[in-house]
Formats: sequence, structure tokens, C-alpha cells
Amino acid sequence: MERQEALALRKDYFMPCVQHFYKDPPLFVRGDMQYLYDEQGKKYLDFFAGVSVMNCGHSNPFITERVVAQLGKLQHLTNVYLTEPVLRLAGRLAQVMPGELSNSFFCNSGSEANEGALLLARIVTGKRKFIALKTGLHGRTYLTMAVTGIPMWRADPFLPDDFYFANNAEDVIAFLEKDRDIAAFICEPLQGNGGIRPVPPDFFRTIAGPLKAHGALLIADEVQSGFARTGKMFAVEHYGVVPDIMTMSKALGNGIPIAAFASSRETALQFTRPSASTLGGNPVSASAALAVLDYIEKEELCARAGELGAYLRSCLESLAANFPVIKEVRGKGLMLGMELAPDAGSAGSTAAETAAGSTATRSAEAAALTDHILEELKERGIILGKNGLDRNVLAFQPPLVINRGDIDFLAGNLETILRRL
Ligand SMILES: Cc1ncc(COP(=O)(O)O)c(C=O)c1O
Repeated sequence: MERQEALALRKDYFMPCVQHFYKDPPLFVRGDMQYLYDEQGKKYLDFFAGVSVMNCGHSNPFITERVVAQLGKLQHLTNVYLTEPVLRLAGRLAQVMPGELSNSFFCNSGSEANEGALLLARIVTGKRKFIALKTGLHGRTYLTMAVTGIPMWRADPFLPDDFYFANNAEDVIAFLEKDRDIAAFICEPLQGNGGIRPVPPDFFRTIAGPLKAHGALLIADEVQSGFARTGKMFAVEHYGVVPDIMTMSKALGNGIPIAAFASSRETALQFTRPSASTLGGNPVSASAALAVLDYIEKEELCARAGELGAYLRSCLESLAANFPVIKEVRGKGLMLGMELAPDAGSAGSTAAETAAGSTATRSAEAAALTDHILEELKERGIILGKNGLDRNVLAFQPPLVINRGDIDFLAGNLETILRRL
């Protein structure tokens, strides 16, 4: 297929809400670990991993072999029947999840996992409402969109307006004290779409007591940050707390759709009314997930993400020291963000001028600059992500199988582009 034909099909037959990166988007036809190839044979270094999904690399032979073997053996029944891979997966997850988290419900997407987690919280607490962070994203279904704070991802015009959005731990505590009908606080320990924002070091410890005192649960959304990405299996482990419910998807299947929400046995035992997911954790997706967990362990990807993440961070921080347009570098492991602010370093601009300048214009400039850098990197054979409320954060979330040479290639090209701005 030619690129033009692909674009025409997309324009004619997709819903327009599905937008693409790039003015001239490559038509990707092949992946090989950290590399991608387009229809013209051009090679790209992938630094976004399909939004933090391909942690083990594209078409990883170790995983592909196991998936293909399972496809040839038994593809699907559903979870009302006994099949081996999903049961092994449940046991295996119990070993790698923090604390007492042990019982899982398998489904197909991050949205679905979060929807299930919110449902479980309502069932367990008998309460209805939720608190979430203002800059969080949790999904596309009704409840998960309702707890998504980022305005651009709230497409439904009829979302409930009595849920609470917090900026910080103090807000969470204030909402708990104000309203006795809070079932849970849901949050990403390291926000992805919100602009690669880790919660502050003492955040979870500060809210743990008040959540417990008010009978509300903590739901950690690890959909984007899970499975070795941040240098630990799950980002919440950086904070020394165990959530009541944890959700996961994306990298769990390394591109094969699978998701889960999990809790302690004690919490899980309260979810007794029937619930089922037709495709959730079917033999093929469960086999993929088992292979992912084996590969993460075998290749020590947590340690690798930690070490390479520290190296990438040092490269990005030295760029930040030289280019005032870079406002901040943040994140953990190989989940790093670089916030851009075109006027952050503009010489001679007074506070009054800054205040007078339109926030909307500055946001648009920051977004345009981010897009420009993404386009330039793409021309040079590098695929990078972007996110943030103003779409002004470069997102560095490569497959965890990259090497130092790949990081040098990215950093060198980024420096050249920044120099030419
Ligand atoms: C933190 C987080 N939660 C939930 C979701 C929704 O996942 P899905 O697109 O698989 O429904 C996403 C998607 O990007 C996410 O980043």
C-alpha cells in the first residue's frame, strides 16, 4: 500500500476523532526490537514504543514464538472454562505485584481495567464517587472518562459533575473530609498523558492515613508506567506504598491486547456477583503476557531501564542546561519527559509583559515547537512521543531493549535540532 492510499482510507473510513502525528506520517510496515521500518524501507529508532507498550521490543522473537505456538494449540474459549495460560499468569502476577496484591481479573484494555477497578471500589466500599488528579488520564469508557482530568480526553458531554479533581495531596484530603461518599482515589503514580509527571515523593504516604480513615480505596493506574518501564516492575514501588487496587495493560501483552485489575485476596473476595470478559486473558494473550514476564526477568529489564534511564536523563539534562527553551526534564527510568516553553528563556521579557501575553498564544507556540521537533526527529529517523495538557512535553518512552548508542543517536540529533531553532 502507498502512503497516499493509507491516508485516503483513514480520511474516508475512520472516525475523525482518531488523529495522527506528523504532516506526512510514515506508513509503518515492520518492527524489529527498538527499530521500525516504513513502506519505503526507511529505518526509524522508536522512542515511544507505541505509547509505552513495546517494552520488550517490536516482534521480539522470544515472545512471538510463544504466541505463535499457543495460536497453533488453543486460541480461545472464554473465562467460564478452565485454560492453563491465564491461570499461570494470575499466579505469576501475584509474585511480581507489590505487597498483598494477589487476585486478578483479566480484560482487554487499560480503560476496561480501570473501569473494573472503579467498579470493585464501589462494591467494596458501598460508596459512589471518586477523586482523581487534574492532570490524569484513565480511559475512554464512561467512568474512566469521568475520572480523566485532562480536558482534551473528556469527549462525552454528559459526564457526571460531582467527582473531584485534585492538584495535590492537600486537595485529596480536603475532598475526603468534605464528602463521605468517596469510594476511591485513582491516580497514575507517574502520569503519562499529563506530561510525564511523577507524583511527589511523599504524596502517597500523606494521603494513605486519610484514605483509610474515610474508608476510601487507593487505585494505582499502572497502565502506562508498569512492567519495568520506570526501573521497577511498577511505578508505585518507588513510593513504598501498596495500593488497594492496581490496574495494568499496555506492556503486559507487548502489543497483544490484555489488561487486568488486581487487589488483595481480602478485597477480591467481596466481588462475588458474576462478571466476565469474553476475550479477557484468553490463551493467546495470556501466553504473550507470560512470555513478557519471562523476558523482563531473563533480560533484567528493570535494572536496564534504571541504568539506561539515568544515562538518558543525564543527556537530556545537559541539553536543558544549554537550551533555555527546555523548562524541565522529569520522570523515572525510561519514562522521561522534557517540557518545552518557548518564552521561558526569551531575553528581556518582564513579568508584566509575560502576564500581559496571552496564555493561549504561549501554549500554542509551545505545542507548535513540540510538533516541529517531532517532525525534525522523524526526518532523521527517530520516533518520539508528545503529551502534556498543552501538548508541549516530549515523551521519551522507548522499548527497554535500546542501548547507549541509541540514546547517543537521539541526544545528538535533538541537540542539532535545538541549535537550529
Ligand atoms: C494511564 C493510562 N490509563 C488508561 C489508559 C487507557 O488505556 P487503553 O487505551 O488501553 O484503554 C491509558 C492510555 O493511554 C493510560 O495511559
